[in-house]
Amino acid sequence: MKRHFRVWRGDSSGGDLTDFDVEVNEGEVVLDIIHRLQATEVPDLACRWNCKAGKCGSCSMEINGKPRLGCMTRMSTFTEDETVTITPLRAFPVIRDLVTDVSFNYEKARETPAFAPPVGVAPGEYRMQQIDVERSQEFRKCIECFLCQNTCHVVRDHEENKEAFAGPRFFIRAAELDMHPLDDRTDRKEYAQASQGLGYCNITKCCTEVCPEHIKITDNAIIPMKERVVDRRYDPLVWLGRKIFRRDELEAGAVPAGAVPAGAPAHRVPLSSARLPEGPPVGPDGHMDVAELAAPIQGGPSPFGEDMTFPLPPEHVVYHHPSPQKD
Ligand code: SF4
Ligand code: SF4
Ligand code: FES
Repeated sequence: MKRHFRVWRGDSSGGDLTDFDVEVNEGEVVLDIIHRLQATEVPDLACRWNCKAGKCGSCSMEINGKPRLGCMTRMSTFTEDETVTITPLRAFPVIRDLVTDVSFNYEKARETPAFAPPVGVAPGEYRMQQIDVERSQEFRKCIECFLCQNTCHVVRDHEENKEAFAGPRFFIRAAELDMHPLDDRTDRKEYAQASQGLGYCNITKCCTEVCPEHIKITDNAIIPMKERVVDRRYDPLVWLGRKIFRRDELEAGAVPAGAVPAGAPAHRVPLSSARLPEGPPVGPDGHMDVAELAAPIQGGPSPFGEDMTFPLPPEHVVYHHPSPQKD
């Protein structure tokens, strides 16, 4: 049967909704309709997609005003006489039609301090039990569709906040590393508070509501981090520390002798319990340092060997599949 659609068409200079009546078959999703439109009436309709299986996170769009994946939104969600309106993500600049420039998210990813390998444990010797990763495993389901980023009112309604706010996707990354049994940094929560703008979040849970992976962004990542930041700030021991240490010691970030393991990198220096760490300074271009490049610990050696260049020659690309069970 034919159903009515309104699709936003335009570019950074402006655009409008265009009406279409398109054939819809049983079991189809919104992305099927966009493909049908491209194959019939509007071959130049721009839309980003890759997997059509809810796994690549490319086909994010707003359908009847709600941020969703086009490939995971069944047409049976709507009543037969309902007009389906498809628009690009609102929080990011439009490139063309349904394609937006999501580079904001990659900039924030670049600013997020990377996993800090443990001192004295060589790559290949990392060992973890399932129980160690039980809590943080949920966050690894993220497909980087950025629907949560698009929904969060902190940036959706306030473009000017983008510089200081990393957004829910990167709060779950911070929480994941904070809960990581082998991550050597001890200041993930404080960094999120001081440099990623965790304090801007007022726990409306809109991000959680739109996450196609059903990650409990607010309850399992943001709230625990906020609670621990508050714990450190208002912990009675912290209060005591303020009474014991002189102000100049606190301001210098003094830590008791012997508290720092010999040879420990800078980020392993325990935080003064009376002083929250400060984020790296924001440069004149409005960006912080690329923490990943500045990390004091080098990553492990390349698994491909030292003198390998990319792209890898085909003979070096080996895919290991589990071999069939031999009895
Ligand atoms: S809970 Fe926080 S991060 Fe999520 S949408 Fe609301 S303000 Fe944004
Ligand atoms: S947390 Fe969920 S909504 Fe946000 S980018 Fe990841 S999968 Fe998408
Ligand atoms: S096309 Fe990959 S998530 Fe929709």
